[in-house]
Amino acid sequence: MAYSGYSTWEEAHLTFFGSLGDRVVGAPSILAADFAELAEEVRRAERGGAALVHFDVMDNHFVPNLTVGPAVAASLAAAVDIPIDAHLQVTNPDNLIPAFIEAGVVSISVQPEVVTHLHRTLDLIRTGGCEAGVALNPTTSPELIEWTLPYVNYVNVMSVNPGFGGQAFIPEMVEKVKRLKEMTAVPVEVDGGITVETAPLMVEAGAQVLVAGSAVFKGDPST
Ligand code: DX5
Ligand code: ZN
Repeated sequence: MAYSGYSTWEEAHLTFFGSLGDRVVGAPSILAADFAELAEEVRRAERGGAALVHFDVMDNHFVPNLTVGPAVAASLAAAVDIPIDAHLQVTNPDNLIPAFIEAGVVSISVQPEVVTHLHRTLDLIRTGGCEAGVALNPTTSPELIEWTLPYVNYVNVMSVNPGFGGQAFIPEMVEKVKRLKEMTAVPVEVDGGITVETAPLMVEAGAQVLVAGSAVFKGDPST
């Protein structure tokens, strides 16, 4: 099985999440950025200390919104140094995974609520040389992915209903992060309503990658 020139899957995947260790890092979400200046906005966030950029893909099927696809991801990857984490909030993600791998993203998360053959989908991501994740909607139980955990590099806990930035944080998601950390050692990414007020709650629960859109691009980045 090809791992993009590496001899083992593990070697191929010590990229971002696999080499995080116990670090806690910020990952600005492009959804709140000025899309007319996307590369510069991402470079500004990188100068501000961001370790990863979170690329929200929406198809107006899984969520009632439409954003950007692999072509934009490829242009962005060519224009910035920071690694790109693609969050596929789409039905039928298998159709898009090869193009996002080709675009040069380092990690891809899918929503298990809309993936029929999740093991096959995660394998498609990993054998393409990217780290694989699952993103859980607020009411999706961690137990749903119990038998998925051996095949992921990270889990994204949505702390808002997917589809839009600037929404209110769902506080019960702190408990879900704690539950997940009892189930797996892979890093937990949290996504939605993450601010200076909510981030400490999630970090205390065990989250390591803090996705923030509005708090980074809409307000004062220093907040
Ligand atoms: C929502 C996206 C989130 C969102 C975060 O569907 O997955 O990444 O952009 O935006 P804020 O930080 O504004 O809640
Ligand atoms: Zn997201």
